[in-house]
Amino acid sequence: MRRIETDVVVIGSGLAGLATALWASPGGKVVVLAKDQPDRCNSTLAQGGIAAAVGEDDSPSFHAEDTLFAGAGLCEPQVVGLLTNEAPKIVADLIALGTRFDLRPSGELDLAREGAHRLARVLHHGDSTGAEIWRALYQRIERNERIRMMPGQRAQEVLVEGGRCYGVIAGGMDGPTEIRARAVVLATGGCGQLFGRTTGSLFSTGDGLILAWRAGAVLRDLEFIQFHPTALAVGDSPLFLISEAVRGEGALLVTEDGDRFMPQYHPMAELAPRDIVSRAIAREQEKGHRVFLDAAPVGTHFTQRFPTIQSKLREYGIDPVHDLIPVTPAAHFMMGGIRTDDYGRTNIEGLFACGEAASTGVHGANRLASNSLLETLVFGRRVAAAIRKNLTQRLGTMARDASTFEDAAARNIRDHAAPLDHTDSRFKKIQAVMWEQVGIVRCEQGLRDALSTLESLEKEIEDNELELRDILELAQLITQAALERPESRGSHYRSDYPEASPAWQKKHLNRGSYSA
Ligand code: SIN
Repeated sequence: MRRIETDVVVIGSGLAGLATALWASPGGKVVVLAKDQPDRCNSTLAQGGIAAAVGEDDSPSFHAEDTLFAGAGLCEPQVVGLLTNEAPKIVADLIALGTRFDLRPSGELDLAREGAHRLARVLHHGDSTGAEIWRALYQRIERNERIRMMPGQRAQEVLVEGGRCYGVIAGGMDGPTEIRARAVVLATGGCGQLFGRTTGSLFSTGDGLILAWRAGAVLRDLEFIQFHPTALAVGDSPLFLISEAVRGEGALLVTEDGDRFMPQYHPMAELAPRDIVSRAIAREQEKGHRVFLDAAPVGTHFTQRFPTIQSKLREYGIDPVHDLIPVTPAAHFMMGGIRTDDYGRTNIEGLFACGEAASTGVHGANRLASNSLLETLVFGRRVAAAIRKNLTQRLGTMARDASTFEDAAARNIRDHAAPLDHTDSRFKKIQAVMWEQVGIVRCEQGLRDALSTLESLEKEIEDNELELRDILELAQLITQAALERPESRGSHYRSDYPEASPAWQKKHLNRGSYSA
């Protein structure tokens, strides 16, 4: 097996991965693994923006309060405080790194309002904010001789011995590679592709979570999956997102008859928390309605404010100012993930996680809009700081010598690892079950049925179908977690337990560590 040695290996090339790599690089050499081309990640699809209390009437404590409110009792207030206090500084640093945010004619930052924010605090670059921040960071990375980008590499195993992580095995077209490092960072993003409808990129299959779990790390809050209310209801997976900022600019949700329905469901109407809007749409769909965004109130401003959305809609012959835009909820973000402390450290020495793959405690049961890009950067930098400290102290060693070769069977499986085929009927079945029974509205019977369907698929998966096997296992973990929480809270809605239970107010569901 090919072998590489480095100081840090970062798995994932979205913003969490790039931020960690960039800010860790003064401490040593960094390898970044990207599953495909580096820009094919969720971050570059993120439209809305990055939340930060930079407005005159705003403060980090208001931002923290809104975040805690959205999180429905499960956020960790101290970590939320870190996020919102560091947000203005991160924004200033992004600007210094060359990120262009939209400005008002007066030259001030133009701030947008999104769901469940008490005021406008979302910085944006048109409707392609994630791609703009990613561009600014990637340009720095390209010029950084200490960072090596390895595209087309899927991490297959995190290597741990004696409670310490010492590297990773990655698989690509040229076979497996063992990469040894003093620190391994899981920045693999979310798992939207486990669901039949998602805004998540084709590569968001939750790799990091299952790798961490197998390595003995603890996973937390897997039942909390956020469903974005307004994905475009036409086109292939991933569904194209119609940013919440469009509703922030005045667009309304209506049925095919033009009837506006959100005021019946919540006083904040279209800008109510995402779980409420998603369930309201699902309810209207159940009644047999089709649901649309009416963007006429945004007016001609649409073109300039949402150029990416406008050009995508044109591909489908939709003029956003004059036509109704067909929308549907879709899986969008996982609040839970690999449990970490406030420096992204997992329970395994040398193993870190950040971004959507991590459960830092900032999102609780539901994420506030535009806190996700912020989280990748704030915690990417904190992980980098912890790693640099360890590297300075020379903590961790290349724990093992050249004697660690796998047995012939394991080697054979890796050499012949089958790539995930998105048209595979077993994968489609997992996506259908997860969407229908582990989606926006769940109940005990549906979750039990889902578990038995998922279990029946186990024997249909060959040993060398590593990614499909990982997806199935993660789907089972999420479903089990949803079954074990007999209440409704944040994004997790159980029709058989429609209220939040005080007994579960502060309770997290931890899973781990793997013992098979
Ligand atoms: C959006 O633009 O609606 C998505 C932003 C987010 O998920 O925070």
